[in-house]
Amino acid sequence: MPAYLIKGGSPLHGELPVHGAKNAALPVLAAALLCDQAVIHNCPRLTDVEAARNILHYLGCATAQQDDTVTVRFTGGGDHRIPDRLMRAMRSSIVFLGAVIGRYGMAEVSMPGGCELGPRPIDMHLAALRRLGVHIDESGGVLRCTTPNGLCGARITLPFPSVGATENVLLAACTARGETELCNAAREPEITDLIDFLNDSGARIRVASDGTVLVTGVAGLSGCRHEVIPDRIAAATYLCAAAVTGGSVTLTHTRPDHLAAVLPVFEEAGCALTCRDDVIALQAPPRLRSVGTVRTMPYPGFSTDAQSTMLSMAALASGTSVFIETIFESRYKQVGELLRMGANVKVEGRVAVVEGVPELRGAEMNCTDLRGGAALAVAALAARGESLLNQIHHIGRGYETFDENLRKLGAQVTLV
Ligand code: UD1
Repeated sequence: MPAYLIKGGSPLHGELPVHGAKNAALPVLAAALLCDQAVIHNCPRLTDVEAARNILHYLGCATAQQDDTVTVRFTGGGDHRIPDRLMRAMRSSIVFLGAVIGRYGMAEVSMPGGCELGPRPIDMHLAALRRLGVHIDESGGVLRCTTPNGLCGARITLPFPSVGATENVLLAACTARGETELCNAAREPEITDLIDFLNDSGARIRVASDGTVLVTGVAGLSGCRHEVIPDRIAAATYLCAAAVTGGSVTLTHTRPDHLAAVLPVFEEAGCALTCRDDVIALQAPPRLRSVGTVRTMPYPGFSTDAQSTMLSMAALASGTSVFIETIFESRYKQVGELLRMGANVKVEGRVAVVEGVPELRGAEMNCTDLRGGAALAVAALAARGESLLNQIHHIGRGYETFDENLRKLGAQVTLV
């Protein structure tokens, strides 16, 4: 099994372009199913993107990838059923549901079940799709969806601004009959990116000033050329890696505005930040200060995906930091591994109290999930001695050429 051997202690320095956002690319790939043809630029080379392409092949699309450009062409002859093994290959495969229903008027997919972040309910997705005229039969872990009267626009209010449910509503509603009004929709930049892709492909979607999303159904989508937004979570991860090692890094191809709730936390910790256009430069202090209290929230709040790497940073800061995770139940799984390095972290339900220690020691650790794995790598980069990080396939789901990028910044990381 591949692993990373990380020799900690080298401050990271240098410049790095940030790849396209996984959480934007996957829904855009799902949306491409609704189009005749789509060309998607800045698509990150990740195992989750490969999994999405495999699903598209099954659904009747031909795809090709050259560098960071993926072309998707609907050729027909596909199936409206996604096999269980393909659904399981990717945590966010449920985002295909709305697109399959939009394309075929029916869908059959297995329930996503649990994942490394805890149970993954999809009740909001299903309730919203039912409002659009989808009949859903749930039995034996399989969802069988039909639309006896076609998809029909409706007024929907989400009980929580779920990213996945918002994406599924957008995908199903854009070719439904009539108008859909979606209240309390998610506002993540990845949602805006999906809306931009759909509108450029021929959809009619508008976001009102109060955040309500208004969709006027159209007969079909032709497709477009689209550039995926930069990955704000990868950017936050590399900033954490530079900060925790006492280094300085300049990230290019980023969107500082997408990190508006995350960047002030680096300043709280004593880092100097300079942002202009698509560049973020960070200079770390000799010793980080506590990050205070970090509460994860739906966008524009502090992203749950940036919490794990920030916690690694807090583990080495002077003073006490408190994390409150409001989005996912099991988002501190990596903490047990961090303790092996000598971190002082206490987790009680959704709260983690981090007493910063002056030094972490290298250890052998297992990645527990995507962001947790990146968080362990961040800690190992700053630890004294060597760490062996196993189960790194989790990291490959969300970070393009992770070890190579770290080496570019001067880290001593070897793939073994
Ligand atoms: C979430 C994050 C998103 C992140 C993504 C990838 C939020 C609000 N969402 O999106 O920023 O990029 O993970 O890691 O930060 N829920 C239900 N029923 C449902 C759907 C969701 O109870 O039908 C609950 C979930 O269990 C969770 C919360 O709502 O506690 C947020 O879920 P949702 O936004 O849908 O998750 P993702 O789409 O995975």
